[in-house]
Amino acid sequence: MLKIGVLASGRGSNLQSIIDKIETGELEAKIQLLISDREKAFALKRAEKHRIDSLYINPNDYRNKKNYEQKLIDLFKEREVELVVMAGFMRFMGSYFINHFKNRVMNIHPSLLPSFPGLHPQRQALEYGVKVSGCTVHFADEGMDTGPIIIQETVSVLDNDDEDSLSTRILKKEHQIYPKAIKLFIEDKLKIEGRSVRII
Ligand code: GRF
Repeated sequence: MLKIGVLASGRGSNLQSIIDKIETGELEAKIQLLISDREKAFALKRAEKHRIDSLYINPNDYRNKKNYEQKLIDLFKEREVELVVMAGFMRFMGSYFINHFKNRVMNIHPSLLPSFPGLHPQRQALEYGVKVSGCTVHFADEGMDTGPIIIQETVSVLDNDDEDSLSTRILKKEHQIYPKAIKLFIEDKLKIEGRSVRII
């Protein structure tokens, strides 16, 4: 049973997709702890509903980024977390945290990386005029949305798309690929070779 720690800042629909797969038995995992950096994050409510331990940790209560990251490391370590899943966590985790959980932090991003990293990737995709976009699950490294890619899924960009409609279509795919990537991790099928992740 893989012990997971989740970081989320918002509505938590990706968190929900993982909870659902755990509850149906498709993912042999347990969410040990959800941490949010936002008190009002709906993700906290979802955790509560499913009796998952959750904490709001206010970054402003810490002297600096490293202290905040240390707190998160300590909380996850106390609960023997083996994989950290960032699910809509709007905070950039620095090298201190990433190195502690080396190759054991996943992130999901709503674009086909390396296109459109950072904020508002769906808006960037529309502004650029791409015909295909999608989502990416990757291991987090020290850069912004730059780590080794695990799975990507594509979505057509339609002529009449706006940011909302494109985001909604991408989100549906996100809910499919995040649990898939976690399952591959559980089955020890992900081999990182430089920038690439080979699925064995
Ligand atoms: C998702 O689009 C995810 O890819 C991005 O932030 C959004 C979070 O959505 N990093 P939710 O909180 O999981 O519903």
